[in-house]
Amino acid sequence: MIKTEQLQRHFKAGDVCVKAVDSLDINIGKGEFVAVMGPSGSGKSTLLYVLGAMDRPTGGQISINGRRLDQMDDQQCSDFRNRELGFVFQSFHLLPRMNLVRNVELPMLYAQIPAERRRARAEMMLRAVGLGERFVHFPAELSGGQCQRAAIARALVNSPALLLADEPTGNLDSRTGLEIIGIFQALNRQGMTIIMVTHDENMARHAGRIIRMRDGQIEKNETVSRPLMSALPEEIEKSLQEVFHAAG
Ligand SMILES: Nc1ncnc2c1ncn2[C@@H]1O[C@H](COP(=O)(O)OP(=O)(O)O)[C@@H](O)[C@H]1O
Ligand SMILES: [Mg+2]
Repeated sequence: MIKTEQLQRHFKAGDVCVKAVDSLDINIGKGEFVAVMGPSGSGKSTLLYVLGAMDRPTGGQISINGRRLDQMDDQQCSDFRNRELGFVFQSFHLLPRMNLVRNVELPMLYAQIPAERRRARAEMMLRAVGLGERFVHFPAELSGGQCQRAAIARALVNSPALLLADEPTGNLDSRTGLEIIGIFQALNRQGMTIIMVTHDENMARHAGRIIRMRDGQIEKNETVSRPLMSALPEEIEKSLQEVFHAAG
C-alpha cells in the first residue's frame, strides 16, 4: 500500500546539509500497524510528513495506493491529504474556539459535504471514541486524553485509507496513552492502516511492526508479537466496528 524507493528529504542551509531522511526503502502493507521509533532528531517526523504529503521529498519515489506523491502538485497533495489520510498530532491541534462537533466537522467542510450529513457524521465519530456526552464542549474543557480522542474522531471522518500519528501519546500520562493505543488497535482490527511515530517503547510494542530510525536511516525493522489491550471499553470497540462497517 505504501512503497518508497530511495526516499530522501534533505534540508540545506548554506553549506550545511541535514539528511533528515536518507535513501529509505519502505514497504507497508494494507492493514499494518507500524510504529516508527528512534532518538530525537533521527528523522521520524520528517518521514511522517513526507508520507503524509505535508512535506515534499528532495529525492526518490513514494507511492500510496498506487498514487505517486512525489509527482503531485500542491493542489493534488492537499486533495489527497483530505481524502485519503488522517492525521493525529502530539498536541491535538484542535481549534480552541470551536466546540468538539465543529472541530470534527472541519475536514468534511473542506470535502464539501452537506451540513446535515456533516453534523450527523461528526456526532457518530465522537460517539465512537466515547465522547457522546461532549459534543458542545470546547477543547479547554476536556482532559488531554479526551482531546486526543476528539482529534482521532476528526482524523477519521473522511474515512481515510491511512492514519498517521506523530507522538500521539507524548502529552499524555501512560495510562491515558495506552487508552489511545487501545483505540488504534481497535481501528487496526477493523482494517485501518496506521503509522505511528513514538519514542516510547511501551507504546510501540503494541504495534505489529517497529521501524527503528537513526540519522535518517532505518537501523532495524522488527515484527512484534503485540500484546492485546484490554483497556478499551466494550462499547467503544463495538461502536468503532459499526462506524467502520457503515463507512465501507
Ligand atoms: N524544516 C527544517 N529545516 C531544517 N532542518 C530540519 C527541518 N525539519 C527537521 N530538520 C532536521 O532534520 C532532522 C530530523 O528532524 P525530525 O524529523 O524532526 O526528527 P524526530 O522527529 O525524529 O525528532 C533534525 O536534525 C532536524 O533538525
Ligand atoms: Mg518528531
